[in-house]
Amino acid sequence: MEGKNNIVFPAETLELVKKIIARYPEGKQKSALLPILHLAQAEWRWCSPEVMDYVASLLSIKPIEVYEVASFYTMFHLEPVGEHVIEYCRTGPCCLMGGVEVYDHLKKRLGVETGGTSADGKFTVKEVECLAACGWGPVFQIREKFYMHLTKEKVDQIIDELGK
Ligand code: FES
Repeated sequence: MEGKNNIVFPAETLELVKKIIARYPEGKQKSALLPILHLAQAEWRWCSPEVMDYVASLLSIKPIEVYEVASFYTMFHLEPVGEHVIEYCRTGPCCLMGGVEVYDHLKKRLGVETGGTSADGKFTVKEVECLAACGWGPVFQIREKFYMHLTKEKVDQIIDELGK
């Protein structure tokens, strides 16, 4: 099955989608929505309306049911994002550990405000609530990887490394 604008998972991802849907009882395929949305975002980097419509068609549910879920969780990107999405923890403990200065430095370094993407398209900066790494703050996350005990110097190193 193909979505609008030729949106279709590669064959091996489609196989995985079928396996995920098969985990759930007949008629309860909507339960597979979150893992399939993660696969969609990994494939197309963000959840455009066309991508969400495609996911809805795979699950035989209404597009609005996908929009509701994707817009609830901050890990789903509803706008185009850069190659690396930096999600920094804006919650109290990280801010008390110097997060405010570190995150300001990060944004200055990239020339963006929160929610923005650097001019070279490499980095998008988002703020999120507690990442459950409070004892190691300030912290940000890029996909599954956590960067902890951040300092301005560490931020520069990370940006230098990922920006190559
Ligand atoms: Fe930042 Fe919990 S307050 S990870």
